[in-house]
Amino acid sequence: MTPLTRNIQKVTTHVLQEMKLQGEKIAMLTAYDYSFAKILDGAGIDVILVGDSASNVMAGHTSTLPITLNEMIYHASSVARAVKRALVIVDMPFGTYQGNSKEALSSAIRIMKESGADAVKLEGGKEVQESIDRILSAGIPIMGHLGLTPQSIHKFGTYVVRATTDAEATRLIADAHILSDAGCFGIVLEKIPAKLAAQVTKEIKIPIIGIGAGREVDGQVLVLHDMLGITQEFSPRFLRRYHNLYEEIKGSVSTYINDVKSLDFPNEREQY
Ligand code: KIV
Repeated sequence: MTPLTRNIQKVTTHVLQEMKLQGEKIAMLTAYDYSFAKILDGAGIDVILVGDSASNVMAGHTSTLPITLNEMIYHASSVARAVKRALVIVDMPFGTYQGNSKEALSSAIRIMKESGADAVKLEGGKEVQESIDRILSAGIPIMGHLGLTPQSIHKFGTYVVRATTDAEATRLIADAHILSDAGCFGIVLEKIPAKLAAQVTKEIKIPIIGIGAGREVDGQVLVLHDMLGITQEFSPRFLRRYHNLYEEIKGSVSTYINDVKSLDFPNEREQY
């Protein structure tokens, strides 16, 4: 199969829809800054998510709840400045869309206006439907997020696999239909049984991106710092580590410290 996206100058939500129709998998990663976003875009990633996981991996919080709208806009604008080809999606942070739909719209407008990103993502189904309708009516594309929704961690108390009971699975499928019928362009399914994710992917016509949702979805997303092995403390079963950058960077820094202290750095060629 010829990858549809090979000669595409800019990935749009319509391209993602076409990829689903043609069976080409969508590759998505998070990024939060200019330098990493440039590398990801240069490598040909389809979608970059400026995730509110920035709260954990960039700011060191224990959950995604504390990150603010201003902080998300700062990360998103850094990413958007680097990216030419990938679709850039920004997470709406906790507290900026659940309260009322007017506030949701003004948060989404700020993200789009001030960051230069292409779309927003938000968590939840039926309970945030009014906010979704209002944001979409302003022409702002939305990706939904169901299953394990980290902004609701205090409701659930744990990060265990979601939708394992029939009742939860039925609710998740209903929410996926609500998001799709409302006009969202895609849905992230996080940490749910692979069989359920496969069923949703078949039933729902918009692209379904999985994280811990098995392989029978339309694409995959991982947190960049987890897949590169920069973070160490987080190792769920679904995470494939492509590097151990924590150790590699630590090794380079140790060598630098030794070089400075032993007067090996700078040498004669490294001075003026
Ligand atoms: O914030 C994030 O990084 C996310 C992904 C885990 C999908 O929402």
